Amino acid sequence: MAARAREAAAAVPETDRDLLVAAAWLHDIGYAPELRDTGFHPLDGARHLESLGAPARLVRLVAHHSGAVYEAEQRGLSAELAVYEREDSPVLDALAFADMTTGPAGQSFDFDTRIDEILVRYEPGSEVRTAISKARPYLGAAVERTRRHIAAFTSLPPSQRAIIDGSGWWPPTLFAVEHQDVELLARLLDAGADPDEGSGATPLTHAIDTEGDGALQSGGPLTAATTAVLLAYGADPELPDASGRTPLQVAEHYDHAPAIRLLRRHLSDDRVRGPQSM
Ligand SMILES: [Fe+2]
Repeated sequence: MAARAREAAAAVPETDRDLLVAAAWLHDIGYAPELRDTGFHPLDGARHLESLGAPARLVRLVAHHSGAVYEAEQRGLSAELAVYEREDSPVLDALAFADMTTGPAGQSFDFDTRIDEILVRYEPGSEVRTAISKARPYLGAAVERTRRHIAAFTSLPPSQRAIIDGSGWWPPTLFAVEHQDVELLARLLDAGADPDEGSGATPLTHAIDTEGDGALQSGGPLTAATTAVLLAYGADPELPDASGRTPLQVAEHYDHAPAIRLLRRHLSDDRVRGPQSM
């Protein structure tokens, strides 16, 4: 599983890679008989690591690994687990990926095989079985997000990966948008990067902001190249950023006419086609 975590390292920012590997080594430490207290291994493991003075993020990742909240609920331990804040991050996703694509003997499993393998080991109605069934959609989505990160990042030549690692921008689509690197952006999206994933800004709001601000600063003409690539790869034209600003509002703020025209076209396309008729 630690080997799977090293593979999944491509799915997290460089500064989090050691943390991911450490969490992968330690996530099931709570199964050790001498650490058994509540009998719920994520909580017993997190409490033990906390007592040793382990870094807070490592403790919290162990507490919340692989959908622990679902099993905590079955066991009546939700309040005890909630002492540890859950970070919804690429690291927690990658930990679930490593756990949920590795079999009990360390073999490589696909996600559904792994879930089925867990289900057959427990009685129907048992806490683990009920929890895993409820956690399945969350875990499946975490595994999928990680898969897409790995595919996008490893599609890049090593020199470009190193530049992104050194930049501190994550996910790499945001790096491409920030630098208005249309070719890199298209390559990442084609490799499977999520056109809507960002932290704070969405790729689309950041693209419009960067294009608008760039033209304002340089006095040059407005271009909607990064915006166009994102929309072409399925970015949601209505998705607001963390502060609630929609792409159209950002475009209007800059009087970004090319982006406004593109957005209007995609917004009306969506209305005409409807959500199901892709
Ligand atoms: Fe576990």
